[in-house]
Amino acid sequence: MHDLDEFTVTDAVIAQMQDTPSDRLREIMDAAVRHLHAFARDVKLTPEEWLLGIGFMTEIGKTCTASRQETILLSDVLGLSAMVNALHAKTSLEKATDASLLGPFYRETAPHLKLGDSIAALPDAPELVFYGQIRNAAGAGVAHAMVQVWQTDAHGFYDMQLHGQEKMDHRAVFTTDAEGRFHFRTVRPLGYYIPMDGPVGRLVLAQKRHGCRPAHIHFLVGAEGYRELVTSVYFADDPYIDSDTVFGVSKSLIVSPAPDPHSPCPELEAIHYDFTLSLAGADGDSRVGADPSRLVGAQIDHVG
Ligand SMILES: [Fe+2]
Repeated sequence: MHDLDEFTVTDAVIAQMQDTPSDRLREIMDAAVRHLHAFARDVKLTPEEWLLGIGFMTEIGKTCTASRQETILLSDVLGLSAMVNALHAKTSLEKATDASLLGPFYRETAPHLKLGDSIAALPDAPELVFYGQIRNAAGAGVAHAMVQVWQTDAHGFYDMQLHGQEKMDHRAVFTTDAEGRFHFRTVRPLGYYIPMDGPVGRLVLAQKRHGCRPAHIHFLVGAEGYRELVTSVYFADDPYIDSDTVFGVSKSLIVSPAPDPHSPCPELEAIHYDFTLSLAGADGDSRVGADPSRLVGAQIDHVG
C-alpha cells in the first residue's frame, strides 16, 4: 500500500486494470488513463473545473438522439475525427485519394440516378457539372463502382434539415460506366455552421471560433475488392477554406469550378476530379462517422 498522490494514483489504476481479458481494451484504457491523469496534472485541474467538465459531458450525452450525434460533433471540433481518418489512411494497402469526414448528413437510401442526371430536384442556382473517373492505384478505371454523393442546396441546407426524413434532395447514387467514369449535374453548395445550439456549439463560441465549414460535396465511393473511400471536395474560394471547424480539408481535395470544353456538359462550369481507390485489406471497411441512429445503445464490450 502506497500513499496516494497525483503520481501513484495513476499506477494504482493501471495495476487494477491489468487483468482485462481483451488485450486491445487493456491497451486503450492504459493509455487513456495515463494521458487523462497527465492532462489533469498539467492544467492543475480544480474541483470546480472537474465538475464543469462532468456537467459538459452529461449534456453532450443528453443532446444525442437517433438523428443527432453531439459526441461525434465534439470529436470533430477537437480534431479527433480527422486524426482517426489520418491514422486509418496509413493502414491502406495503396495510396488512395485523401479521406475526409462522413459527417452527420449521410443517408444510406439515396436514390439511384443515371449518369448525367441532376442531383438537385429543382435547381435554383446556376448548374455545375461534376465529372471524373474512379481509378485503381495503377490508374485504370474501375467499372461499375458505386459513387454516392450528397451536399447542401445552394442556400447551405441539407434535405433533412428542411424536410426531416420526408424528402431526399441534393443526394444520389451513381454507378460508373465500363471505364470507371461518372458525371452528374448539381448546383454549387454553400458552407454552413455546425449545430451551435448545443454544448459543443457553446464551447466553440466560448473559444471565439466561427463554427463554419467551407462549401463541400461529400462522396462515398465503393467497389468490389477495394477499400471504401469516404471523402469530400472543397471549394477553393470559400472564405473558410483554411479554417474548417472540423478539420476536413486537405489541399488535395480543393476544387474550383471552371469552363471546361472537355467536360460532358461543356455549356456548364465544370469540376473535374478523379478518385483513386486502394485494394481492400483484411480489416474491411471502416468509416469515421455513422448514421446516428446506429449509435444509440452502443456497448463498450465490442472493443477488442
Ligand atoms: Fe457536409
